[in-house]
Amino acid sequence: ATQKLWGGRFTNSTDHLLEKLNSSIHLDKRLYNEDIEGSKAYSRILVSSKLLSQEESDLICERLDKIKAEWMKNEFVIKDGDEDIHTANERRLKELIGDVAAKLHVGRSRNDQVITDTRLWLRNAIGILEQLLKQLIKTIVDRSFEEINIIMPGYTHLQRAQPVRWAHFLLSHAWNFKSDCDKLQHMYKTTNVMPLGSGALAGNPFYIDRIKLAQDLGFEAITQNSMQAVGDRDFIAEFLFWSSLTGIHLSRLAEDLIIFSSKEFNFVEISDSFSTGSSLMPQKRNADSLELIRGIAGSLFGQCSTLMMTLKGLPSTYNKDLQNDKDVMFSCFDKLTATLNIASGTVKTLKVNPINCKNALNFDMLATDLAYYLVHKGVPFRLAHHDAGKVVAEAEKRNILISELPLEVLQSISKHFKEDITEIWNYENSIEQYQTMGGTSRSNVMTQIDLLKKWLFAC
Ligand code: ARG
Repeated sequence: ATQKLWGGRFTNSTDHLLEKLNSSIHLDKRLYNEDIEGSKAYSRILVSSKLLSQEESDLICERLDKIKAEWMKNEFVIKDGDEDIHTANERRLKELIGDVAAKLHVGRSRNDQVITDTRLWLRNAIGILEQLLKQLIKTIVDRSFEEINIIMPGYTHLQRAQPVRWAHFLLSHAWNFKSDCDKLQHMYKTTNVMPLGSGALAGNPFYIDRIKLAQDLGFEAITQNSMQAVGDRDFIAEFLFWSSLTGIHLSRLAEDLIIFSSKEFNFVEISDSFSTGSSLMPQKRNADSLELIRGIAGSLFGQCSTLMMTLKGLPSTYNKDLQNDKDVMFSCFDKLTATLNIASGTVKTLKVNPINCKNALNFDMLATDLAYYLVHKGVPFRLAHHDAGKVVAEAEKRNILISELPLEVLQSISKHFKEDITEIWNYENSIEQYQTMGGTSRSNVMTQIDLLKKWLFAC
């Protein structure tokens, strides 16, 4: 027999290359806290099943706390043969209390243990991500309130479309992040379900009270099928998909700001703290923070597809392929926490240039307003759109703006054009006509700010 926890039926030792590939301790040591809390709760429930005495359980819990302290102080010594966090903690417990440690794992398998630990970990990670998203949303909301007067061109297809408030643009991103937050709440529920007590796959034969165990660990519910429970990684897949989508939202914001910070636009200036220079061109200041965010979004989706590829084709219950789940989960979490912080910092410190934003507008962007003018005079919209299009063509032919065309020319296109047409050449008025809920008018932007503030405050 070999020394391994599972070594009873083995005579020869593991090939050292397999030993290395099989080992996950360098990654899953991040689960030390969850692994210890899970073991403590399991030892308490074993008392009810009379598999441990109260004293034995107390001793186990006390020493597990000591082991936790070693991890926290970075004093835990990982030894050869510590395959993963579960074997490492158990090996250490045995060193501290001898044979009593050997009683703890009864009825439990690393299959239900690892996924319980993972769910506990992700449950906590979700809370951290929610806070970071809220910090970003708050940064955007604060700016929007301060800068509600700034107007700029809005784009579709990256072509000048209609004037909008800068705050309306900023808030468009805040709403995406709010929807990411809402999804987190749903994910918290699906994650917070306890698989412990499923054993390797068949269940637990010692009549442990799983509901009580779940309550002890703060789980809202328990899994109902042990075979499903040990092989289920849906909640991680969901998390990775969520990360990809959140990454895409971050990337969209980043891309907008990268474009707006180019000298051709010059709407915003990214602060020195979130830019870098060039080793060759002295004048350069690059928005690296935003480019990193944009780039990381791609790798988040890469991690998501990695897990999907791992899951596809696996037979039921636990298979070692699943060990890969934590690598992608941790990596997505680390990348997202970093990018969310960078995004908040970049948005908070950037400078917006109101004059350039306004100068980028021209009256051709009010061609829609010209059509709406005719609609207000009773012209059906399709005809009005057509006539306004003719106005645009006429101005283009003369190489002038539509606002520069003489009234007679306008009237030759539609008799409904009158003296009061000059009133439409006003960006503020144009923006303020979007009074319907959700539009870019001041009152609607204020409503968005109020709604988001109330939401931030309530949770
Ligand atoms: N380190 C393993 C993982 O992360 C733990 C479960 C191992 N179970 C087993 N039967 N080999 O997936």
